[in-house]
Order: sequence, then structure tokens, then C-alpha cells
Amino acid sequence: MEIVPLSDAVGAEIRGVDLRESLSAKTFDQIEKAFHDFAIVLLRDQDITLEQQKIFALKFGELGSRNRPGTKPNELDEYGEHVMLVTNVRENGKPIGSLPDGEMTFHADTAYFEFPSKATMLYAMELPTWGGNTLFSNCYTAAEHLPENLKRRLDGQKAMQVYEYGTTLKTKERYDRKNFPHYAHPVFREHPASGRSALFVSELMTEEIIGIPKAESDEILQKLFTHQKKSQFVYEHEWRVGDLVMWDNRCTIHARTDFPRDQRRMLRRLTIQDNNPVVEGAVPYAQAAAE
Ligand code: SIN
Repeated sequence: MEIVPLSDAVGAEIRGVDLRESLSAKTFDQIEKAFHDFAIVLLRDQDITLEQQKIFALKFGELGSRNRPGTKPNELDEYGEHVMLVTNVRENGKPIGSLPDGEMTFHADTAYFEFPSKATMLYAMELPTWGGNTLFSNCYTAAEHLPENLKRRLDGQKAMQVYEYGTTLKTKERYDRKNFPHYAHPVFREHPASGRSALFVSELMTEEIIGIPKAESDEILQKLFTHQKKSQFVYEHEWRVGDLVMWDNRCTIHARTDFPRDQRRMLRRLTIQDNNPVVEGAVPYAQAAAE
């Protein structure tokens, strides 16, 4: 097996693994270590069934459920509780999957739940001729490179994460807490495997920093969102059919570039549930000083 960084920002490609075959404990340990070291892993040229994708995903933990408050199981499609088709393909004018068209703003999956997904795994099945790239931003290095005064202001603060699927813009200035799933998580969260602090906010889902006056909270959040998009933190993944990408929602956020509506894009998504509470991280002084 070979592990090759995808960029200076985040991510690694794992070469020499065929997910149709059963993985030895040693191989899996190496993949898991790469996942913790690089936060995103890519395995190219995979030709796998849903069952094979599930077998791989289950090695990282329990599969995440797609059931959300207000969704009845019988409203889910034929793929059931754990599988989401991320696709713009429509049958009888109706999307057969989720997150169908165009650009998406940075977010961490299910950040608005008490127990957000640990990881998300996408397997590329059909792709447009251009666009639809997924951007990943490294929330460790983004945290470490914040100005010291901002780190101090954010020390010990929590931010409200809300369920929002406008996909590019928040559709409301302020969310109706009764009707939108939401949860306040620490701005700096500690990653249980690495012990590092990650900046746990995102443009699509973070509404406010709790306990800070609204104008200041808005101003800080805008600064953080701009900071997270700096190229030094971001890797842009150009998909190839057969790519399997798994990202760590505890220390990365992701976004998507636009792509043509009249071309098919289909990726099969599983998430890994996290049953550990989100733990507040230390202000990331030490890492910044070390670099
Ligand atoms: C997602 O946000 O989970 C979808 C990303 C993508 O379609 O590239």
C-alpha cells in the first residue's frame, strides 16, 4: 500500500487497495491511520457494489441514519435508512436522490445534531464533463492560523449550528428554533483521535456565536468563513468515476462547485455515526507556534 498526499492542505490517496477484497487488520489499521493523519482519504478506480461499500464503511463504525426529525421511514427512497444518492438525476421530473443541483457552500455534515456524523463516504458513479468538484477545507490548520486575538475571543465559546439546505445561502436571517434541527457546539472542538483542536463552524450551517452581541457575532463569523476558504487550507477534488472519498466531519468542512444541470452526476453516500459527545478543544496556540 502507498499513501500519497493529495495537496499541502489536506487529504491523501491510498493506492494498492481493492475494496472488493477483504482487508487484513493490518491494511485497515494503515487506512485508519491515514484517515486520522490526513482527514480525507481517496481510493481511486474502485468497482464496488453497495454491499462492498457498506462493508468498508462499517469498519469505521456504525452507519449513520438518514432519518431526521420529521422524516417518516416510508418517505425515504428504496435505498433505505443509511444510503443517500447524491444526484441530480430525475425520474418523472422528481430527483431520485438528494442535494441535486449545482454549487454548495461549506458545511460539516449533520453539525446541527448533538452527535454529528463522524465521517462521510462518497462513491462516484456518474459525473458531468465539468464541475461538481468537492472542496475540502482543513479545520485544524484553519484554527491554528487564526489571529491570536480572535482565538482568545473564541476561547470557550459555542456556536449554533442549524439544519439549512438552501445549499448556497442561508435562506433566513434567523432560524425558527422550533422547526429547524439545531445544536450549539464548541467553536473549537477536540478531535478524539488526534487531540488537536478544529474550527467547527461553517458558512452554510453556523448561525451565531452564542452570547456574543449579534453584530459582533456576524462580523466574526464572516471573518471565519473567509478564512476557511483560503487556498492554503483547501483541497479541490476533481472526481473520477470509481473514486471513493471518505472525509472526517470532525476536522474538515466541504463545499461543491457548480456543474451543468443537464448532465448526470451520481455519487453513493454513507455516513459513519459518532456516538461520542463533541468535546471542547483547547485554543490552538501550541500547533500554531510549532509551525
Ligand atoms: C455533500 O455535501 O455531502 C455533497 C458533496 C458533493 O456532492 O460533492
